[in-house]
Amino acid sequence: MIPSEYLDLVKKLNTHAHAYYSLDAPEISDFDYDILYKKLVDFEENNPAKVDALSPTQRVGDKLLEGFESFQHPSKLPSLSNVFNDEELEAFVERVEKGLNGKKATFTVEPKIDGLAIALHYKEGRLVVGATRGDGSRGELVTSNIKTIKSLPLILNKAVDMEVRGEVFIRKSVFKSLEADFANPRNAAAGSIRQLDPSVTAKRRLDVFLYQGIGMNEPTHDRVLRAVSALGLPVNKDVLMCVSVSEIKKAIRHIIEKRDDYDWEIDGAVIKVNECAYQDALGYTIKAPRWATAYKFPTEQVVTRLNDIEIQVGRTGVLTPVAKLEPVRVTGVMVSNATLHNMDEIGRKGVKIGDDVVVQRAGEVIPEVVRVEQTYETSELFFMPLDCPSCSATVHHEDGDVRYYCVNMMCPAQVKGRLEHFVARKAMDIDGFGKQLVDQLVDLGLVQDLADIYYVTREQLLDLDRMGETSADNILKALEDSKTKSLSKFLFGLGIPFVGERSAEIIVESFPSLDKILMVSKEKLLDLYDIGDTIAESFLTTIQSPEFIRLLRRFLDAGIKAEHVEGEIESDIFSGQTFLITGTLSQFSRTQAQDEVKKRGGKILSSVSKNLDVLLVGDKPGSKVGKAVKLNESGATIQIMDESLFEALIKE
Ligand code: IVH
Repeated sequence: MIPSEYLDLVKKLNTHAHAYYSLDAPEISDFDYDILYKKLVDFEENNPAKVDALSPTQRVGDKLLEGFESFQHPSKLPSLSNVFNDEELEAFVERVEKGLNGKKATFTVEPKIDGLAIALHYKEGRLVVGATRGDGSRGELVTSNIKTIKSLPLILNKAVDMEVRGEVFIRKSVFKSLEADFANPRNAAAGSIRQLDPSVTAKRRLDVFLYQGIGMNEPTHDRVLRAVSALGLPVNKDVLMCVSVSEIKKAIRHIIEKRDDYDWEIDGAVIKVNECAYQDALGYTIKAPRWATAYKFPTEQVVTRLNDIEIQVGRTGVLTPVAKLEPVRVTGVMVSNATLHNMDEIGRKGVKIGDDVVVQRAGEVIPEVVRVEQTYETSELFFMPLDCPSCSATVHHEDGDVRYYCVNMMCPAQVKGRLEHFVARKAMDIDGFGKQLVDQLVDLGLVQDLADIYYVTREQLLDLDRMGETSADNILKALEDSKTKSLSKFLFGLGIPFVGERSAEIIVESFPSLDKILMVSKEKLLDLYDIGDTIAESFLTTIQSPEFIRLLRRFLDAGIKAEHVEGEIESDIFSGQTFLITGTLSQFSRTQAQDEVKKRGGKILSSVSKNLDVLLVGDKPGSKVGKAVKLNESGATIQIMDESLFEALIKE
């Protein structure tokens, strides 16, 4: 390969990575991508001096950083003023109107992402600086870490010099599968961006939304966002336009209602004056713009009595102390249980049974005990039991580990936990197999390990409480149907510690049968992207144990297929995207093409508008193409796709 071919390859891989990570619309298979990637790595290994700064290999830096250089922001990153209720919001809008001498501003309302503020600098379209906000004037130069963010382009669609600002965060779904111990996604994001080893940062799978473009010469904030998005940068699309206080309030309520649905944590809504000329006229106080404010969502805290501390045994055997509370309403929900996390936490907070404690529910998180409000002479210290409360086996604990474990695999609490996990929707998806059924089957000793559920008879089911013939037959049918569930769902369902949904999928992609999986070595597992030491270790110890082999035998005897289902993972490639078809396609009728889109999670629109994502163009298209091009010129981001690309996408 000659250097110019190498640079073309860099470009090509970056385009494919963008299609995959940002657009959710891969243009080539993972396999083909890996081949190209390998070619690139080969060239770089032989020509180390020629490695381009934008090469995808440079995203996962393997160089350790020695502390961070500081970075002087060319212009200050202000913070935001806060309002905490509707009166304060009204006062903000009044101040804006007064500041504009009665001229009427419009407003945008958008979610306030709870992450870490960053500034990015692009030179001739290339990412050259990524820095944390720091104190607003000086931040830390974390460019290598920023480059690990897969949804962030290293090169923009236009060769411009510019600064954009935004928020780095970790998706809730990713946070759940992180091996690292962080209290919440915000801490995890902040801790990850300030990692000295970028390969650790890469494993945390950070994400980013840009919410500001500096000096973009657009008339309004919403146009700025569209222009930023048109450059290829990720922008949160949930921005609502408002013309009055009552509309702003409605928009805020809308965001509060959607809070749990977002895959990122938010801690409020940001209200901004939309017209850039009005923003300039209003200007800044020492700390914050006068043209914007944050409406902070309440984290309601309530005092209640801690009646008891109970131990819950999870499916992996970890013992978690749970606060049993005098029932109390917190942000509209009755709360009688709250997590105390672990013994260290109880010690740190000085919690005793009988105390009055402060409880809070932040967002969608499980309620937690924040601190002791009032302790009493009669309050009692809590000790971790020496024996498992479920099976009486001796509890294990190692110095330096905050966790306590029950290591008895047959412990009923663990079996119940594992079973609930196995039958859950994301795993084997066995309809009608609820907690009540699980409890009864385990308590009666009919089920002692996961495979046992396939040996439960109709008679045994009918003997259970509240079980009629129809329900029993439905359950047997659901069990039968589950036997053909895919290998990755089966593996995930086994509940192997640290092996989440995604890890299971990644393993199955490379080792697509049970036989291959049973033969896998640690080295081979560690070769897989995103499979670290902890996952590999836990996976192998589990699947190579004699108990597991016995369990597997019984699954297979019961008729479990556990086969790899090709294409399962990318079946919703058009999810959330809108399509419109124009002209005559050669391989599909209009209806067939529409069905292919809908099958993959896409929607069909009836006309070209800025809400359109993809215009699929066949032979002899009409005026729609011209209209889409025009809209793109004024900030829309409609992808104009030909039939061959469409065909390639749906064949993946
Ligand atoms: S605008 C001049 N928009 O909130 C306006 N900030 O408390 C600057 N934040 O440090 C901020 N989501 O990092 C804006 N959609 C959003 C935001 C947002 C999160 C953060 C931002 C800032 C902090 C202020």
